[in-house]
Amino acid sequence: MTASSTPSKPDASRQAESSGLVLVAGGTGFLGSAIVEQLLGHRRVVVLSRGGDRARGRLRERFGPEAVELRTGDVTAPQTLDEALADVDTVVQCVQFPGSPVEAPARGRTFLEVDAAGTRALVDGAVRAGVRKLVYLSGVGADEGSDRAWFRAKGLAERAVRESGLAFSIVRPSWTFGPGDVSLNRFVDLIKAIPFIFPQLGPGTQRINPVFVDDVGRLVRETVVGAAADGQILEIGGREVMTMDEVIRRTADALGRKRSSVHVPLDLVRFGGSILELLPGQILSRDAVDFITASAVADLTALDRIYPSFELRGFDDAIAGYLASR
Ligand SMILES: NC(=O)c1ccc[n+]([C@@H]2O[C@H](COP(=O)([O-])OP(=O)(O)OC[C@H]3O[C@@H](n4cnc5c(N)ncnc54)[C@H](OP(=O)(O)O)[C@@H]3O)[C@@H](O)[C@H]2O)c1
Repeated sequence: MTASSTPSKPDASRQAESSGLVLVAGGTGFLGSAIVEQLLGHRRVVVLSRGGDRARGRLRERFGPEAVELRTGDVTAPQTLDEALADVDTVVQCVQFPGSPVEAPARGRTFLEVDAAGTRALVDGAVRAGVRKLVYLSGVGADEGSDRAWFRAKGLAERAVRESGLAFSIVRPSWTFGPGDVSLNRFVDLIKAIPFIFPQLGPGTQRINPVFVDDVGRLVRETVVGAAADGQILEIGGREVMTMDEVIRRTADALGRKRSSVHVPLDLVRFGGSILELLPGQILSRDAVDFITASAVADLTALDRIYPSFELRGFDDAIAGYLASR
C-alpha cells in the first residue's frame, strides 16, 4: 500500500470524542463524587485523584468495586497529567486543596497554586491530549480582579478554561450542602452537642442560597452530555435566599431542636483566625473568616434560560432527606 492510499490516522481529538470518556478531576470529593454518580449510566467515567488507598476506598464504597477507574495525577505537578488524560473526551474539573478555605502556603495549599495554576495545568494538559470539552466547577463571585485570593483564583481558572480553545461550560455553585459536606454536617454536630444556643461566627446576616449537591451534579451532567450550555457560565443556587442565621434555625428545626444563634463578634473571630493561621493544622485563618462570612447569592437567570425546566430541591425538603440518611 502506498503512503497516499494509507487511511489517515484520526487525530487525537477525534479519537477522544468517539470514546465519550469523562474524567472527573476531584471525583473523590464532595461535589466530584455527586457528579460521578450523575454521570454513570450516561458516560464512561474515570476519576483523577492524587491516589492512595483512601481515594480508592472512597470510590469502591460509593460506586462498587469496578464501576469507576482511578487515574493518579496531581494538578500541581503537570507532568503527572498526560497519562491520566489519555483518550478523554471531556474533563470536569472540581479539585480543591484539602482544608479549603484555610490555606497552608508551606504545603502548597493555596487558591492561587491549586485552583488557579492547577486548573491552568489541567487545561494545558487537556489541550495537549486532544480533549474536546471542559466543564469547570467555579463559584459564585469568581473575579480575577478581586483582592480576595479565592475569588481571584476562581476568576483566573475561568479565564484559562475560556481561553483554552476547547468547548467549555463553567458552573458556579453557591454554598452547597448534602451528605458528606464539611459545613452543614459540622453545624448539625454542633446543634446536637450544644444545648439552646448556636455559636455563630460573625453577625449571621450574610445572604446565601444553599443548593443541594445532587442538583449541582445533575446540572454538570447536563453540561457534559448536551451542548446547550457550551460557552456559558451558569450560576446555581437554591430558589430561596436566606441568612446564615436562618440556615441554622431551619437546620435545628429539622432536627427537632430550638437553637438561638449567639454571635461571636467578627473582629474577635478575625483575631482568632490571625492566631490560628500561625499554628499547624489549617484550623482557621483571617481570609477563611472573610470567605465564610461573605454573602454569596447565585443568579439563576442563565440557568433558567438554558434549562427552563431544571428543578432545584427546596432547602427544608432536601435537608430532611439528608438528615434521615445520616
Ligand atoms: N463545597 C461547596 O460548597 C462549593 C461551593 C462552590 C464551589 N465549590 C467548588 O467545587 C469544587 C469542589 O469542591 P468540593 O467541596 O467537592 O471539594 P473537596 O470535597 O475538598 O474535594 C476536592 C477534591 O480535589 C482533589 N484534589 C485535591 N488536591 C488535588 C491535587 N493537587 N490534584 C488533584 N486532585 C486534588 C481531592 O482528591 P484526592 O484527595 O483523592 O486527591 C478531592 O477529590 C472546588 O473547586 C470548590 O471551590 C464548592
